[in-house]
Amino acid sequence: MAGKINFLGHPVHPMLIVFPLGLLPLAVIFDITYLSTANGQWAQFSFWLIATGVLGGLLAAVFGAADWWALDDGTRAKRIGLWHGLINVVVTALFAISWVMRRPTPAAPPTAAIVIGIIALVLALIAAWIGGELVYRLSVGVDFDAHVDSPSSLSGRSAKEKAR
Ligand code: HEM
Repeated sequence: MAGKINFLGHPVHPMLIVFPLGLLPLAVIFDITYLSTANGQWAQFSFWLIATGVLGGLLAAVFGAADWWALDDGTRAKRIGLWHGLINVVVTALFAISWVMRRPTPAAPPTAAIVIGIIALVLALIAAWIGGELVYRLSVGVDFDAHVDSPSSLSGRSAKEKAR
């Protein structure tokens, strides 16, 4: 099953998720480092990681929503894809709240802001597992003719298959 928005033959959504899934967990790691070292510089790194991670998450969500929209109604992919999207929107919102709470003192964030980030990370792991289920179990975004000896996505053959 083909994803709706592609770049060079591959779905754009998985290209963009590296930003939220890279930056936001790193922010939590830096928060924990801040708590264990009491060095405010780690919290300041987290502050900017969260800002860029939330922006990356919003961008990724737009492309994920477009791919989800293109799925056939009544399928398991459509159902669990909705859960995947909703949980990720909550995750992005929680990190945004955590960022707003840090704004007055980025180098000394309130403990509640750090706890919200940890809760959001747990939710993100659940949503990422559902994302893996969508791709590797339900073949969302995978070409119809995918196999270990398929021609390149740029050969044009896959595009023809997708049009079916
Ligand atoms: C911060 C926001 C988001 C993150 C971090 C995220 C993360 C992921 C991950 C990890 C995968 C599996 C990719 C793979 O294993 O190759 C995935 C796939 C997918 N996600 Fe998301 N997601 C986000 C938002 C959304 C939203 C809002 C929707 C809309 C319902 C959505 C729909 C999909 C779909 C349809 C797939 C299957 C692959 C594709 O067609 O692109 N995602 N996502």
